[in-house]
Order: sequence, then structure tokens, then C-alpha cells
Amino acid sequence: METKIFRLNEYINSGSLSEEDIEKLKQAGEILKKGGLVAFPTETVYGLGGNALLKDASKDIYAAKGRPSDNPLIVHISDMDELPQLVESVPEMAVKLAVKFWPGPLTMVMKKSDIVPYETTGGLDTVAIRMPEHKVANMLIKLSEVPVAAPSANISGRPSPTSAEHCIEDLSGRIEAIVDGGASAIGVESTIVDLSGEVPVLLRPGAITVEMLKECLQREVMLDPALEKPLDKNIRPKAPGMKYRHYAPKAPMIIIQSEYSSGDSETDNMSEADKKFEFDEGLKKITECAIRNIEEKCAEGLKLGIICSDETMDIYMHEINDQSGKLHSYRDKLEIMSAGQRANEITIAHNLFAVLREMDERAVDFIVAEGFSQKKLGYAIMNRMKKAAGQHVINV
Ligand code: TXA
Ligand code: MG
Repeated sequence: METKIFRLNEYINSGSLSEEDIEKLKQAGEILKKGGLVAFPTETVYGLGGNALLKDASKDIYAAKGRPSDNPLIVHISDMDELPQLVESVPEMAVKLAVKFWPGPLTMVMKKSDIVPYETTGGLDTVAIRMPEHKVANMLIKLSEVPVAAPSANISGRPSPTSAEHCIEDLSGRIEAIVDGGASAIGVESTIVDLSGEVPVLLRPGAITVEMLKECLQREVMLDPALEKPLDKNIRPKAPGMKYRHYAPKAPMIIIQSEYSSGDSETDNMSEADKKFEFDEGLKKITECAIRNIEEKCAEGLKLGIICSDETMDIYMHEINDQSGKLHSYRDKLEIMSAGQRANEITIAHNLFAVLREMDERAVDFIVAEGFSQKKLGYAIMNRMKKAAGQHVINV
């Protein structure tokens, strides 16, 4: 099948939708309503949409992604009015969170109603629901006049797509259309919280942090055990998607992490000067260990990918470009990219998946990545990175 590309020129240029853009979204909405598949931008990552109420559309989504069908889909809505029909009842906690965080990067799991087919929920009695903030996503869902089931628009196992180009790479020829609305702002998938039981449980960290959820609900939010340690193969996790190797580049990857450089130590009552000293010490430990690992792998004849940060880029460049540098003799076998600024972790979330994909493009054999802060948005960033690395972390 030939995949139509609906490029929203005015939206990409100015952030507002022109008549022409809306015309394209009408066509895309029509495809969704009739049961076809359309990839579209959201503020987190691109989604692969299909009519959530049609069994066959959901089956087609699994087929296009090459995804196991026990991994449930997120149902996207554009207005609070669309929620009640999809769930058995709307929990009080969901109302509180929706008022505060919808539209936005938050997905809530609730008991499903009968109209949501088991094909959409991977056989579960619960359904995950999100109202995206992205103007294009919101308009497309409205125009389709149906709730839109949409997993991330990548082939199963690959890093999630944060641009239309990524969707084209993975899904061209497999779906009816791709809506190009430019790069996704946030870059990591939505936070998922399970509200189907007594206690709210965080299933996947995202831009809405646990602290924000607790603050809004004025109560504890449990962390799903699957977040903290690699899962036993025999346990079925609550968010079934969490058991698959995810967000992964083709090459094996290790993460070099230091609690100091990431601001994770108990620094609250330290002076600014001491904090800076700890931060610098941490970065020194990370880069020294990374360089040792890079040298070792290069000596085995491998092509190496290095994922660093704006703050550390110069350290590697010095080792690569200086005649006496430790990495100088391997300079032709190195691909180095910064994921963003440690001082501004939003940039890291925004770039992460694109950097992982680019490492695939550059055909590296092995990736050495710096670890980042585990706090706030950093928790979501490190969750994705650790999955990409198969939990292979070296602490220094
Ligand atoms: O930001 C996002 O959430 C993006 C955009 C497109 O909205 N979507 C996304 O979908 O990341 P996906 O399918 O890649 O991830 C959905 C996750 C999976 O880990 C799945 O297991 C979990 O949500 N999930 C879906 N329904 C669930 C349910 N009823 N109970 C528990 N987990 C559920
Ligand atoms: Mg996904």
C-alpha cells in the first residue's frame, strides 16, 4: 500500500493550522473513521492511530507494528465528554488528575466499558486513556469522530518516533497515511498511572512526575515493582508493554552513571560551591570510565557510539582530536552525539530517541552512554535509557 503523507506546512511554520492543514486532517480523520491507520504527532511521541472501537483496526495496528497482541493500546480522546462511554465509571482520582493535567502527557488506566473491544485492551478489563494537548492530535481525533487507539508509531522494539521521518522509516508502505506536524516537543511517552484499584500505581514515568501526581491527589502513589528491577520472565507486569525490550537501538549499549553528576545525592543542605564540586567530580568519574570502556571496545575493532552531554562533549573531543589523546588512534571508528544539556533535562528528553535512532543509522557496533539525573523528568529519561541498555549500568 502506498502511504500518503499529509504535511501540515502552516502548522510546522507557525504553530497554527491553516485551512489547507485542516483539509488534510479531515481526510486523515475520514481514514480513521473508516477503520484505516494513520500516524500522527502528539506532544510526547508520534502515535499510530486506528478507530479504538473497531476490533479489526486494533488488529491491524498490531500487525503494522509487529507488536504482540497482549500489549494493550492507549485510547486517545479530544474532550472530557468522550470519557464516560469508554469506562465502567470515572474514578474520583481520575477527575482530579484530568482537571489538572489534561490535555497533556498523562495516561490513566480505568475499568473499561463494554464498547471497548478486548482487541484494543490486549484482553484486559481495563483501558488506558489519554487526552493529548497537541493541536494536531486534538483536531484529528475530533474530526475522526471516534476514540483513537494509538501506540507509539514505531516498529515494535525500536525507539519511539519523535518526527514524521521516523514514522516513515518504520511504517511507510504498511499504513494508509502519516500526518507530518514537525518534531514532538517532549520526546518521551506519557506518564501512565493505574487508577483501576484502590491505590494509584505509576506504571510508566513521563513528563508528569510522581511528585506532581502525589501533589495533585494529596496521597501516596505506588511505583509498579516492574519499574525498579528487571522483571522475572514468568511474571506478567501490570503494563504488559514493560516486559519487552524497548526503545532499543540495534547495538548493545551500556550506561555509565554517577550519583554525584546527576544531582541524586543528598545535596539539599550543601553550599552551591560544594554542589558544583560534587557535580564536576561526578562528571570526571563518568567521562574517565566512559573513555576506558570506549578504548577497550575500540581495541576489539568495534565501531563505537558515544552518547554524552553538552557539558562533557569537549572532554571527549579533546581525547579524540589531540595527538596525545586516549581516543586519537580510534578517531575514525567513533560516532559522538550529545543528548542535550544536563542543566536543562527537557532537552535530553526531547533528543533521546532521535539520538538512539541516529546511532542505528551510523551503524555503530556498541554504544557507551552517560547516565543522567534520576529525579523528576530524569526518572523517565533514565527509565527509557536503561531499557535501551537492557539494564546494563556501570555505577562509578
Ligand atoms: O505518549 C504516549 O503515551 C504515546 C502517544 C502516542 O500517546 N503512546 C504510547 O503508546 O506510548 P504505547 O502503546 O507505545 O505504550 C502504551 C503502554 C504500554 O506499555 C502498555 O502496556 C500500557 O501502555 N497499557 C496500555 N493499556 C493498558 C492497560 N489497560 N493496563 C496497563 N497498561 C496499559
Ligand atoms: Mg511504544
